[in-house]
Parts: sequence; C-alpha cells; structure tokens
Amino acid sequence: MTQIDRSREARGDLAPGVSGQSRREFLKGTALTGAAMAVAANADAATNAIAVTDPFKGTQGLPLKVGSPCLQAPGETTMGISWAVSGLSRGEVEYADNPEFTGARRAKAGGYGLVPIDVAALQVRLEGLRPATRYWYRTVTTPFTDYRNIYDAKLGEAIVSGIHSFTTLGAAARPHFCMINDTHAQWKSYEMVARKLKEIAPAAVVWNGDATNTTQDKRTAVEIFLDPPIDDRDYSADIPVFFESGNHDFRGSWISKKEEVMLPRHPAERKGSEWDLKWNFAVRCGDLALIGMDTGEDKPDGHPKWFGLANFSPYRRAQAQWLERQFERPDIAKAKYKVLFCHIPLWPRTAAESVPPWDGTTIDPTGYAYWSRECRDLWAPILVKGGVQLVVTGHKHQFDYFPPEPGRPWAMVIGGGPELGRDSKGENPRRFPTVVEGRVADGALRLTVHDVFHRRVVLDCEVARA
Ligand SMILES: [Fe+2]
Ligand SMILES: [Fe+2]
Repeated sequence: MTQIDRSREARGDLAPGVSGQSRREFLKGTALTGAAMAVAANADAATNAIAVTDPFKGTQGLPLKVGSPCLQAPGETTMGISWAVSGLSRGEVEYADNPEFTGARRAKAGGYGLVPIDVAALQVRLEGLRPATRYWYRTVTTPFTDYRNIYDAKLGEAIVSGIHSFTTLGAAARPHFCMINDTHAQWKSYEMVARKLKEIAPAAVVWNGDATNTTQDKRTAVEIFLDPPIDDRDYSADIPVFFESGNHDFRGSWISKKEEVMLPRHPAERKGSEWDLKWNFAVRCGDLALIGMDTGEDKPDGHPKWFGLANFSPYRRAQAQWLERQFERPDIAKAKYKVLFCHIPLWPRTAAESVPPWDGTTIDPTGYAYWSRECRDLWAPILVKGGVQLVVTGHKHQFDYFPPEPGRPWAMVIGGGPELGRDSKGENPRRFPTVVEGRVADGALRLTVHDVFHRRVVLDCEVARA
C-alpha cells in the first residue's frame, strides 16, 4: 500500500486493506452480479488482509479490486481499454453498438495464442469497429484465486464493470479535442484537469507528456495512468486518450515497460520499418487531422545523465520520415485542419531561449532544452509542406500562445503545468494548470485555453479558417 493509498484509506475512500480504488467505484463496478456483490462484501471484511507474497500464484482469498476502464490509443476502427486490478486475473471486454448489448461481442486480452493475465493491469484491444460509431462496453474481470500450475489453477467469481461508451474516430467524427500536459502525478491539479475534461467531453484527449516523474515500478505507473487518487479518475472510461511521452516519461528503472499500462498505437498502423514508433499517431477527427510525435528527452543523447541509455536523435530522424508518409495519406492530406501534438516546444519563446543549452543541442551540466532545435530542424519543413496550422506542446509549465509569424506559419500553444500559483521562487500568478481545447466551429479552427486553477478562460481565438 502506497503512502497515497494510506491517506485515501484514512479518509474512507478505499476498501480497507486494498489499495488503489475507492469503495464507491468498487461497489459501482460490481453492482451487476450477486456474486460480485459477495466479493465486495469480502472487501469490507478484509480489514486485516495481508499482501500475497507471490501475486502470480493467485489472489489467495484476498478480494479482487477492479479499476475503472481507461480508453487508450483510439483509432477509426480500433480502441484500446486498460484497467487496474489488485491481483492475478483475466480480462475481457463485452461490447456492442447499442446500450442493450444486443449482438454483443467479447474480446480477450492480447492477440493470438495465449491470453495474457496480470496482477496489476489488464489490456484489451477492440478491432474491426466502424468509424465514427458509438459503442457501449463493460469489462469482465475474473480472478485466479490459485495458480500454482495450470492443472489445479482456480478461477473466482467474475466482476463486471458498469456500462460505459465511446465513439470511434474518423472523418465523420466530432472535430473536438482537449490537450493536457505535465500532470506529473500532482493529484490536486490533476483533479482540476480531470473535472474540466468531464465537463467539456471532447471526442478525444491528448495527454501530451510528463504524466510521470521518475518511475521505478509498475505500481507507480498503474496509479498514474489507470487509477489516480482523484474523484474524477473515471473521465477516460468514456473519453478516449491519446498519449505522447514527455522527457520525464523516459525516466526511471521501470519506465521502458510503460506499454504494459498505457497501450501504444495498434501495430497495424505502422510499416515494418516503423516498428518502434509505437506512440506516433495520425488520425482523422472530423475535419481535424490529429498528429502526435515524440520529442524525447530534453538533453543531448551523449549527456552523462543518460548513462548511455539515450538514443533519441535516430528516433527523431525516423519520425521525420514517418511524418512525410502521413501527409501522403489521402485521409490526412484532405483534412481541413492539421494539428501536431508534441511535448517539447518546437520554437523558442524568446530570443534569449534561442541559444544553447536552451535549444537542447549542447551538453551542459545544469541546462536542459526549453525547446528542441533538432526536432524543429527535422520536422518543421515537413510541417510547412503538409500545411499544419497549429502545434500544441507542453514542457514549460507555463501557458503561452504564439500566432503564426514569418518563418513559422503555424500557431503554437504551450499548456501550463501542475503548479498552483507558485513556483520554486514563491508566488507566481502565471503558473496554473490548463486544459487546451480545440474544435472546428463556424467554419474555423478555434482554440480555447482553460485555466483550471482560477476557473477562467485565458485564451479564446480563431487559429485558422480553411
Ligand atoms: Fe514537465
Ligand atoms: Fe517536460
């Protein structure tokens, strides 16, 4: 049980002795079956539950706790769904194009062959969906109470989630997105962000990096991506989330396995030579083409802090080739408005920032990139040729907006960070978390930036009119 779990248990959010899910959500998620209710009752009885020493041997009588589903890596015909579990279990998703579940289908975790099971997070990918179509779904999670070997393994009672829904993307989808960034596992500000996302209810959210800080184990990643200790943690049960990494999302001894918690893009979206560009996306969302790229770490690959682990320059070059190919796709080329999302800005905010080490090109013991010259040099000519009108970034922990200017024909917006009116030097009214909202309305691409700390709109403007 983490420190946060202990404090949540203390304030009564958690079933005692189990970590990561509120009693309210737990009971709601188990409301459909009598057997599941029995499991919930067990949770109440588990006041003195002790941790299973080897969780892969089964739940061993401990109640299974199932998190709210999180929609990830949305596509036109595919949708990923991940959720947290407290013990060894099998996950399936039941889905249909109607709320009565007439003609419902069931999808298992994984692809062919063996179905993956896990003790912390389950992941199911729905395929063969129709574009711009609403689907209803629920998760079905079954614990292995005992799994010493396959011949005498035992399954417990299935826990069925509440019913949620999503709409696939595509040229006929609603042209409306939100971007969040630099949430950094700061729960107070993340709660404000999540509440605003529920209120706006866009077609999709782009989580544009620095979701994490330094991730040393899977439990931390599960908490951040699937089961954060905030009241509105279930926003992503009904709003699909794209993810792009920030520099912090490459830090920590466990973080190279983050796809076990946050699904990458469907492999069929990539050519063989693009096999490791797992997070790049280019998807139509109505008149919008949403394009996501990964700016990587914020210091050069040769920096001693990386201990030889950084290989981002080739990654950025490979993404440039990928980007060229995306604009050759008729569906992307035909989109009226093209928006690029990446974590680190592609342009300096001021002349003072335009020089090393702030452009990320030199090895400096204390400096880091405020913006990425390498990404700009590689990607900007392609963005200009492809007709991108807006670049949406984070990283600076301070909202800013820059209209197009000579040499940069796109507008650039930078989202705020998790700081609530303060920074390391004291009070700073320019430090507030944001939700960046983009939509096509009245024949134009419009941008609205919500300051979710002061509950005000700090920008509302027309970006482009095609
Ligand atoms: Fe950050
Ligand atoms: Fe960052």
